[in-house]
Amino acid sequence: MAAAARTVFARSAALRTTASPLTTATTTAARAPRLSSNLTRRAIRYQHQSRRGYASEGGSNPNPSSSSGSNPAIWLGALAVLGGAGYWGYSSGMLRGTSSSEQGVGAAVKGAAFTPKTEDFQAVYDAVAKALEEHDDYDDGSYGPVLLRLGWHASGTFDKETGTGGSNGATMRFPPEGDHGANAGLRAARDFLEPIRARFPWITFSDLWTLAAVCAIQEMQGPKIPWRPGRQDRDVSFCTPDGRLPDASQGHDHLRAIFGRMGFNDQEIVALSGAHALGRCHTDRSGFEGPWTFSPTTLTNDYFRLLLDERWSYRKWDGPRQFQDSKTKSLMMLPTDMALVKDKKFRPVVERYAKDNEAFFKDFADVVMRLFELGVPFATGEDARIVFKSSFD
Ligand code: HEM
Repeated sequence: MAAAARTVFARSAALRTTASPLTTATTTAARAPRLSSNLTRRAIRYQHQSRRGYASEGGSNPNPSSSSGSNPAIWLGALAVLGGAGYWGYSSGMLRGTSSSEQGVGAAVKGAAFTPKTEDFQAVYDAVAKALEEHDDYDDGSYGPVLLRLGWHASGTFDKETGTGGSNGATMRFPPEGDHGANAGLRAARDFLEPIRARFPWITFSDLWTLAAVCAIQEMQGPKIPWRPGRQDRDVSFCTPDGRLPDASQGHDHLRAIFGRMGFNDQEIVALSGAHALGRCHTDRSGFEGPWTFSPTTLTNDYFRLLLDERWSYRKWDGPRQFQDSKTKSLMMLPTDMALVKDKKFRPVVERYAKDNEAFFKDFADVVMRLFELGVPFATGEDARIVFKSSFD
């Protein structure tokens, strides 16, 4: 998805630090400015948002999704009708129609149980990668960041004490969870994946969301994230209570409480936060505004470098408390981002990742892989993990 791995920002010489070892030639090309001014970009972005109707995000839609394809009642009904021996739950209801991973529901109903293989999941990956490349008119030129945020918010509800939440279930399809403030804006990602789900009706939403997030990371030039299937979609009764995802206005204690509940330690909290090299905050979603880095559609360790190298001060505005870089005033940090440099235990990890992109990529890949597996009762072992070929391979 070279086309999506681009930035809309003219990278300021003042803020540009040396190229990351793993993202040199391709990254430089990918970072070529795309639109001439922030104003143009913003105008276009809001135009796209209103066209896609994000204003209705978190509204009172009683249906779990805008598409019938995500209606659990239909799927539960289909599963009950189709029956059969289960392969990770979803295949228990799907019938083998053709050897193609792209079989439609009609074909599935006529045939026998369909057991997806590695190449079928790779076909889903390829379809997501292609869609990312084709739909480059969104936000900073890519749906990649919001797809990653979907995978993370689906997984980050996990509670290790009760075993509830996590990526199993895709319960964000239902209003209680879809309407949680933290999930504002994620309808864009779910809607983006609907046509892919229609092409590959055998995959569960919960597998698709995490697979798409893996695809987004890899296609935005991040590391390979091993992934395995096995998530089952669940009904509305499995929605997690509000408040399980982090609150950006808080500090280090809150980060440790939230990520500790998922089972992550200090080093892992910092590695995961490196995802904020990607994407941006939106006033109509979280209330915060702006990107963290100058290359919001390319994964690098720039987030850590900027955290340390720039001078950050409170932004003077009507919105929630956030930080801006003193030089260009075009980048932002959340209070939780700043907690990583203020806290004595987090800071050395930030320093290590700022110096060593390879170390960041290695730790990021490991912790994201585990994040996306939280709460999943896999019937397979770790050797079932797939490493997808990216469009760069
Ligand atoms: C450390 C605690 C975290 C907090 C408080 C936090 C908070 C936020 C907020 C407020 C936004 C802006 C949403 C919007 O307005 O559109 C955001 C965006 C984002 N977050 Fe986080 N986040 C955290 C951790 C993570 C993790 C662990 C990941 C992934 C591994 C992640 C990935 C992203 C991405 C990719 C975006 C950009 C989405 C877009 O561009 O639409 N975040 N986050």
